Amino acid sequence: METVCDLASLRQRINGWRGAGEKIGLVPTMGNLHEGHLALVEAARKRCDRCVVSIFVNPMQFGEGEDFASYPRTLDADQRKLEAAATDLLFTPTAATVYPQGDQAQTRVEVPGISDILCGASRPGHFVGVATIVCKLFNYVQPDLALFGEKDYQQLMVIRRMVDDLAMPIEIIGLPTVREADGLAKSSRNGYLSPAERRQAPKLYETLGVTARALKSGERDYALLEAEGQEMLRSAGFTPDYYAIRRAEDLQPPDPDERDLVILAAAFMGTTRLIDNLNAA
Ligand code: PAF
Repeated sequence: METVCDLASLRQRINGWRGAGEKIGLVPTMGNLHEGHLALVEAARKRCDRCVVSIFVNPMQFGEGEDFASYPRTLDADQRKLEAAATDLLFTPTAATVYPQGDQAQTRVEVPGISDILCGASRPGHFVGVATIVCKLFNYVQPDLALFGEKDYQQLMVIRRMVDDLAMPIEIIGLPTVREADGLAKSSRNGYLSPAERRQAPKLYETLGVTARALKSGERDYALLEAEGQEMLRSAGFTPDYYAIRRAEDLQPPDPDERDLVILAAAFMGTTRLIDNLNAA
């Protein structure tokens, strides 16, 4: 596996493959790779001739006071994992390459509506940062398909909408959340948890499961179920940010007869903000 950090080298490799008629898959990441990322690489390997992974901790998607500075940067270990997973090319641009004028002066991509609710309401500007970097990565690599985890359900929807609205000729694949044995969704931020917090953290998924079962059994008082979910999280030591039952299709509040539902939650365990979601179709 080769690692490149400049656009000229990236484009040279990509152009060679494209000229040979090869299909290219892209897995955008911020590094600190875990099994969730490696499942995306494996899926790209199966569907494409070439798999490109990017690692870039994108300053534009972090708000003030968030964990941009402390976000785990583990390039050597990441390279070893990607090599073992038969990645063809790793792209690790610097902020100066991605944002030569600085990220404040950068042209932005905004997906309205869906970017302002749930995580977008708690983290203003977050999804503008995500959409902008993903758009740039798509322009750099021009992949045939790109793969993302469903753990970041709202992010996946923002990216799908961007691709549709801007008519980007890229297939977006979402893959199921990869979990620890106790149910906790794999996340680079799990490493922030103390041993005591880590023991409590699976309660987030457990709570989603309780709500999903209630919905499946026909319960439709969404406000009550959301309040009960928040209470369960508080009893487990979380400080909930939001706990919401939404239409899976567009994340809007559902009608009582809606069948395709998703429960989305964000909650702080100590200072660590965890997110998770569960489909309740
Ligand atoms: O999910 C992530 O790791 C990031 O939000 C992404 C998609 C790589 C954009 O920086």
